[in-house]
Amino acid sequence: MSEIFERCREAADYIRTQFDAQGAIGLILGSGLGELGDEIEDAKVVNYADIPNFPRTTVPGHAGQLVCGKLNGAKVLCMKGRFHFYEGHDMKTVAMPVRVMKLLGVRALIVTNAAGGVNRTFKPGTLMFIDDFINYMGDNPLYGPNAEEFGPRFPDMTKAIDPEYNALGKECAQELGIEVRSGVYMSFRGPNFETPAEIRFAETIGADAVGMSTVPEILAARHCGLRLIGISCITNMAAGITGEELTHEEVQETADRVKGQFKQLIREIVSRM
Ligand code: HPA
Repeated sequence: MSEIFERCREAADYIRTQFDAQGAIGLILGSGLGELGDEIEDAKVVNYADIPNFPRTTVPGHAGQLVCGKLNGAKVLCMKGRFHFYEGHDMKTVAMPVRVMKLLGVRALIVTNAAGGVNRTFKPGTLMFIDDFINYMGDNPLYGPNAEEFGPRFPDMTKAIDPEYNALGKECAQELGIEVRSGVYMSFRGPNFETPAEIRFAETIGADAVGMSTVPEILAARHCGLRLIGISCITNMAAGITGEELTHEEVQETADRVKGQFKQLIREIVSRM
Protein backbone atom coordinates (compact mmCIF):
# COMPACT_ATOMS: atom_id res chain seq x y z
CA MET A 1 0.00 0.00 0.00
CA SER A 2 1.37 3.45 -0.78
CA GLU A 3 2.31 5.67 2.15
CA ILE A 4 0.04 8.52 1.10
CA PHE A 5 -2.92 6.15 0.70
CA GLU A 6 -2.28 4.87 4.21
CA ARG A 7 -2.15 8.44 5.55
CA CYS A 8 -5.39 9.35 3.83
CA ARG A 9 -7.11 6.12 4.88
CA GLU A 10 -6.40 6.73 8.56
CA ALA A 11 -7.78 10.26 8.27
CA ALA A 12 -10.89 9.07 6.44
CA ASP A 13 -11.46 6.27 8.96
CA TYR A 14 -11.54 8.80 11.81
CA ILE A 15 -13.82 11.24 9.95
CA ARG A 16 -16.26 8.40 9.22
CA THR A 17 -16.71 7.90 12.96
CA GLN A 18 -18.00 11.50 13.15
CA PHE A 19 -20.26 11.75 10.07
CA ASP A 20 -21.17 10.12 6.78
CA ALA A 21 -20.11 12.20 3.76
CA GLN A 22 -21.04 9.57 1.18
CA GLY A 23 -22.49 11.24 -1.93
CA ALA A 24 -21.69 14.80 -0.78
CA ILE A 25 -20.41 17.64 -2.94
CA GLY A 26 -17.00 18.75 -1.67
CA LEU A 27 -16.34 22.47 -1.27
CA ILE A 28 -12.90 24.04 -0.93
CA LEU A 29 -13.35 27.76 -0.51
CA GLY A 30 -10.76 30.44 -1.14
CA SER A 31 -9.80 33.74 0.52
CA GLY A 32 -12.75 35.74 1.74
CA LEU A 33 -15.23 33.22 0.33
CA GLY A 34 -15.28 30.84 3.27
CA GLU A 35 -18.45 32.27 4.84
CA LEU A 36 -20.54 29.77 2.95
CA GLY A 37 -19.30 27.19 5.41
CA ASP A 38 -21.32 28.99 8.12
CA GLU A 39 -24.55 28.60 6.15
CA ILE A 40 -24.49 24.82 6.19
CA GLU A 41 -27.52 23.36 7.93
CA ASP A 42 -27.59 20.29 10.20
CA ALA A 43 -23.85 20.76 10.36
CA LYS A 44 -21.54 18.14 11.80
CA VAL A 45 -18.06 19.44 12.41
CA VAL A 46 -14.63 17.85 12.73
CA ASN A 47 -11.59 19.91 13.71
CA TYR A 48 -8.53 19.35 11.54
CA ALA A 49 -6.52 19.07 14.75
CA ASP A 50 -8.41 15.88 15.66
CA ILE A 51 -7.94 14.17 12.31
CA PRO A 52 -4.97 11.77 12.20
CA ASN A 53 -2.24 12.83 9.76
CA PHE A 54 -4.12 15.97 8.79
CA PRO A 55 -2.05 19.10 8.28
CA ARG A 56 -2.32 22.05 10.63
CA THR A 57 -3.47 25.41 9.35
CA THR A 58 -0.88 28.13 9.82
CA VAL A 59 -3.34 31.02 9.59
CA PRO A 60 -3.66 32.49 13.11
CA GLY A 61 -7.09 32.23 14.70
CA HIS A 62 -8.28 29.81 12.06
CA ALA A 63 -8.70 26.38 13.57
CA GLY A 64 -9.60 24.56 10.38
CA GLN A 65 -12.71 22.47 10.23
CA LEU A 66 -14.47 20.00 8.00
CA VAL A 67 -18.19 20.69 7.97
CA CYS A 68 -20.72 18.20 6.66
CA GLY A 69 -24.38 19.07 6.20
CA LYS A 70 -26.92 20.58 3.82
CA LEU A 71 -26.61 23.61 1.59
CA ASN A 72 -29.71 24.59 -0.37
CA GLY A 73 -30.92 21.00 0.02
CA ALA A 74 -27.69 19.43 -1.23
CA LYS A 75 -25.39 17.31 0.90
CA VAL A 76 -22.02 19.04 1.13
CA LEU A 77 -18.66 18.52 2.79
CA CYS A 78 -16.90 21.84 3.20
CA MET A 79 -13.29 22.55 4.10
CA LYS A 80 -13.19 25.64 6.27
CA GLY A 81 -9.56 26.55 5.91
CA ARG A 82 -7.41 25.18 3.14
CA PHE A 83 -3.71 24.45 2.81
CA HIS A 84 -1.37 26.41 0.58
CA PHE A 85 1.99 25.40 -0.80
CA TYR A 86 3.43 28.77 0.30
CA GLU A 87 2.69 27.93 3.92
CA GLY A 88 5.43 25.34 3.69
CA HIS A 89 3.30 22.23 3.31
CA ASP A 90 4.52 19.82 0.67
CA MET A 91 2.33 19.23 -2.35
CA LYS A 92 1.04 15.85 -1.18
CA THR A 93 -0.09 17.45 2.05
CA VAL A 94 -1.78 20.34 0.23
CA ALA A 95 -3.72 17.85 -1.89
CA MET A 96 -4.40 15.36 0.89
CA PRO A 97 -7.91 16.63 1.77
CA VAL A 98 -9.02 15.96 -1.82
CA ARG A 99 -7.95 12.35 -1.56
CA VAL A 100 -9.56 12.01 1.85
CA MET A 101 -12.79 13.37 0.37
CA LYS A 102 -12.57 10.74 -2.36
CA LEU A 103 -12.20 8.00 0.26
CA LEU A 104 -15.21 9.42 2.13
CA GLY A 105 -17.37 8.98 -0.96
CA VAL A 106 -17.60 12.63 -2.02
CA ARG A 107 -18.90 12.58 -5.59
CA ALA A 108 -17.79 15.93 -7.00
CA LEU A 109 -15.79 18.93 -5.93
CA ILE A 110 -16.06 22.71 -6.29
CA VAL A 111 -12.87 24.66 -5.64
CA THR A 112 -12.77 28.44 -5.44
CA ASN A 113 -10.03 30.98 -5.04
CA ALA A 114 -9.10 34.63 -5.16
CA ALA A 115 -6.98 35.44 -8.19
CA GLY A 116 -5.28 38.29 -10.00
CA GLY A 117 -6.72 39.24 -13.38
CA VAL A 118 -4.33 38.94 -16.30
CA ASN A 119 -6.94 39.16 -19.03
CA ARG A 120 -7.30 42.91 -19.57
CA THR A 121 -11.04 42.66 -20.16
CA PHE A 122 -11.51 41.43 -16.57
CA LYS A 123 -12.25 43.78 -13.67
CA PRO A 124 -11.87 43.34 -9.92
CA GLY A 125 -15.01 41.45 -8.97
CA THR A 126 -15.19 39.37 -12.16
CA LEU A 127 -16.04 35.70 -11.51
CA MET A 128 -14.11 33.32 -13.78
CA PHE A 129 -14.88 29.67 -14.37
CA ILE A 130 -11.57 27.81 -14.63
CA ASP A 131 -11.73 26.10 -18.04
CA ASP A 132 -8.08 25.03 -18.00
CA PHE A 133 -4.93 25.68 -15.99
CA ILE A 134 -1.16 26.01 -16.12
CA ASN A 135 0.86 24.47 -13.30
CA TYR A 136 3.74 26.87 -12.73
CA MET A 137 4.41 25.85 -9.13
CA GLY A 138 7.43 23.75 -10.02
CA ASP A 139 6.00 20.87 -8.05
CA ASN A 140 3.15 18.41 -8.24
CA PRO A 141 1.30 16.26 -5.68
CA LEU A 142 1.59 13.30 -8.06
CA TYR A 143 5.41 13.28 -8.07
CA GLY A 144 7.10 10.18 -6.69
CA PRO A 145 5.92 6.59 -6.67
CA ASN A 146 2.42 6.50 -8.07
CA ALA A 147 -0.33 5.92 -5.51
CA GLU A 148 -2.02 3.21 -7.57
CA GLU A 149 -4.94 3.06 -5.11
CA PHE A 150 -5.96 6.52 -6.26
CA GLY A 151 -5.25 6.46 -9.98
CA PRO A 152 -2.93 5.94 -12.93
CA ARG A 153 0.71 6.99 -13.34
CA PHE A 154 -0.09 9.30 -16.26
CA PRO A 155 -3.49 10.87 -15.68
CA ASP A 156 -5.28 12.68 -18.48
CA MET A 157 -5.72 16.45 -18.11
CA THR A 158 -7.83 17.20 -21.18
CA LYS A 159 -10.89 16.79 -18.98
CA ALA A 160 -9.42 17.76 -15.61
CA ILE A 161 -12.24 20.28 -15.36
CA ASP A 162 -15.47 18.34 -15.66
CA PRO A 163 -17.09 19.58 -18.90
CA GLU A 164 -20.64 18.74 -17.87
CA TYR A 165 -20.50 20.38 -14.44
CA ASN A 166 -18.59 23.34 -15.86
CA ALA A 167 -21.38 23.90 -18.38
CA LEU A 168 -23.95 23.47 -15.61
CA GLY A 169 -22.15 26.06 -13.49
CA LYS A 170 -22.23 28.62 -16.29
CA GLU A 171 -25.89 27.86 -16.94
CA CYS A 172 -26.67 28.51 -13.26
CA ALA A 173 -24.84 31.84 -13.46
CA GLN A 174 -26.79 32.86 -16.52
CA GLU A 175 -30.12 31.94 -14.95
CA LEU A 176 -29.26 33.93 -11.83
CA GLY A 177 -28.24 36.91 -13.98
CA ILE A 178 -24.68 36.76 -12.66
CA GLU A 179 -22.15 37.78 -15.27
CA VAL A 180 -19.26 35.32 -15.43
CA ARG A 181 -16.24 34.78 -17.61
CA SER A 182 -14.08 31.75 -18.19
CA GLY A 183 -10.39 31.28 -18.71
CA VAL A 184 -7.05 29.74 -17.88
CA TYR A 185 -5.80 29.83 -14.28
CA MET A 186 -2.03 29.84 -13.79
CA SER A 187 -0.64 28.92 -10.38
CA PHE A 188 2.52 30.44 -8.92
CA ARG A 189 4.15 29.26 -5.70
CA GLY A 190 3.80 32.59 -3.95
CA PRO A 191 3.77 33.95 -1.32
CA ASN A 192 4.79 37.18 -3.01
CA PHE A 193 2.48 38.63 -5.60
CA GLU A 194 3.97 38.18 -9.06
CA THR A 195 6.29 40.72 -10.67
CA PRO A 196 5.04 42.75 -13.65
CA ALA A 197 7.49 40.77 -15.83
CA GLU A 198 6.02 37.49 -14.60
CA ILE A 199 2.56 38.75 -15.45
CA ARG A 200 3.66 39.69 -19.00
CA PHE A 201 5.00 36.14 -19.26
CA ALA A 202 1.70 34.73 -17.93
CA GLU A 203 -0.23 36.79 -20.46
CA THR A 204 2.02 35.65 -23.30
CA ILE A 205 1.56 31.97 -22.53
CA GLY A 206 -2.21 32.23 -22.32
CA ALA A 207 -3.16 32.80 -18.70
CA ASP A 208 -6.27 34.79 -17.86
CA ALA A 209 -5.78 34.73 -14.09
CA VAL A 210 -2.99 33.98 -11.61
CA GLY A 211 -3.06 32.67 -8.08
CA MET A 212 -1.27 30.59 -5.46
CA SER A 213 -3.62 27.67 -4.94
CA THR A 214 -6.11 25.25 -6.50
CA VAL A 215 -3.83 23.49 -9.00
CA PRO A 216 -2.62 20.88 -6.47
CA GLU A 217 -6.25 20.09 -5.65
CA ILE A 218 -7.21 19.85 -9.33
CA LEU A 219 -4.33 17.46 -10.05
CA ALA A 220 -5.18 15.18 -7.14
CA ALA A 221 -8.89 15.21 -7.98
CA ARG A 222 -8.30 14.31 -11.61
CA HIS A 223 -5.89 11.56 -10.61
CA CYS A 224 -8.47 9.86 -8.37
CA GLY A 225 -11.38 10.42 -10.72
CA LEU A 226 -13.17 13.04 -8.64
CA ARG A 227 -15.23 15.31 -10.90
CA LEU A 228 -14.31 18.94 -10.31
CA ILE A 229 -15.04 22.52 -11.29
CA GLY A 230 -13.23 25.67 -10.20
CA ILE A 231 -14.22 29.31 -9.92
CA SER A 232 -11.86 32.23 -9.42
CA CYS A 233 -12.89 35.54 -7.97
CA ILE A 234 -10.74 38.16 -9.68
CA THR A 235 -9.97 40.34 -6.69
CA ASN A 236 -7.45 42.64 -8.35
CA MET A 237 -5.76 43.20 -11.67
CA ALA A 238 -2.43 41.37 -11.68
CA ALA A 239 0.86 43.18 -11.11
CA GLY A 240 1.84 45.85 -13.60
CA ILE A 241 -1.51 46.00 -15.38
CA THR A 242 -2.79 49.14 -13.71
CA GLY A 243 0.50 50.23 -12.19
CA GLU A 244 -1.03 50.18 -8.71
CA GLU A 245 0.66 48.20 -5.94
CA LEU A 246 -1.08 45.00 -4.84
CA THR A 247 -2.25 44.44 -1.29
CA HIS A 248 -3.95 41.65 0.58
CA GLU A 249 -6.46 44.25 1.79
CA GLU A 250 -7.61 44.86 -1.78
CA VAL A 251 -7.98 41.10 -2.27
CA GLN A 252 -10.14 40.87 0.86
CA GLU A 253 -12.20 43.98 0.03
CA THR A 254 -13.10 42.72 -3.42
CA ALA A 255 -13.87 39.21 -2.18
CA ASP A 256 -16.09 40.81 0.44
CA ARG A 257 -17.90 42.89 -2.16
CA VAL A 258 -18.80 39.96 -4.42
CA LYS A 259 -19.29 37.25 -1.82
CA GLY A 260 -23.08 37.60 -1.94
CA GLN A 261 -23.19 36.76 -5.64
CA PHE A 262 -20.59 34.12 -5.17
CA LYS A 263 -22.51 32.36 -2.41
CA GLN A 264 -25.72 32.55 -4.43
CA LEU A 265 -23.97 30.94 -7.38
CA ILE A 266 -22.44 28.09 -5.37
CA ARG A 267 -25.74 27.40 -3.61
CA GLU A 268 -27.47 27.07 -6.96
CA ILE A 269 -24.77 24.88 -8.48
CA VAL A 270 -24.64 22.38 -5.59
CA SER A 271 -28.40 21.96 -5.70
CA ARG A 272 -28.23 20.97 -9.35
CA MET A 273 -25.09 18.85 -9.51
N1 HPA B 1 -1.64 37.01 -7.63
C1 HPA B 1 -1.60 35.82 -6.98
N2 HPA B 1 -2.54 35.43 -6.15
C2 HPA B 1 -3.57 36.26 -5.94
C3 HPA B 1 -3.67 37.51 -6.57
C4 HPA B 1 -2.63 37.90 -7.46
O1 HPA B 1 -2.64 38.99 -8.05
N3 HPA B 1 -4.83 38.08 -6.14
C5 HPA B 1 -5.38 37.19 -5.28
N4 HPA B 1 -4.65 36.09 -5.16
